[in-house]
Amino acid sequence: MKRAWLAAAVCAAAMPASCESDEPQTEASLLPADHASFPEVRGCRFSVDHDAIYVRVFTNPQAQAAYTDGVYPFAPGTVLLKHYYRDAGCTDLQGYGLMQRLDDGEAPEQLDWHWQELDADGKVQAIEVAACVSCHDSCTAGRDGACTDP
Ligand code: HEC
Repeated sequence: MKRAWLAAAVCAAAMPASCESDEPQTEASLLPADHASFPEVRGCRFSVDHDAIYVRVFTNPQAQAAYTDGVYPFAPGTVLLKHYYRDAGCTDLQGYGLMQRLDDGEAPEQLDWHWQELDADGKVQAIEVAACVSCHDSCTAGRDGACTDP
């Protein structure tokens, strides 16, 4: 969010022409550069959230124990990454759902998480954040916004 404000400020101040584009504005990717080395915290399973999608969940290494042991709330900066797969063996990657923990109380209307969805190439997809939030609010079961059962 801070980055988006910065981009807007730069556009307004310095380069108005380059910012006038018909391209829909998408925010910068939050997918960490080292996400391929993230530990897996929930194994391959059918997703309750989507039809005919299989998922695995990963976190940044610092959050692994908190996720698997259920130590809530998660630390600010925690990244929860859900891999979406087309096949039951979880080999054919379709994309990612991503949650990045904000500071406590920073955005209670978003459960204090930043929400993002990306395709398999890491391109940010247009999403309705309110839909992510309302469903996670109901499926989290006291897990600080996280929904995947052990
Ligand atoms: C209809 C309900 C629903 C909606 C809408 C939804 N989710 Fe989820 N989400 C779940 C459930 C249930 C899980 C547990 C794993 C599964 O079954 O896929 C989950 C798991 C996740 C996880 C893994 C971390 C965890 O344990 O919660 C991430 C990341 C995630 N969702 C991101 C998103 C994002 C981003 C959006 C919005 C684009 C979104 N979700 C919308 C229900 C939902």
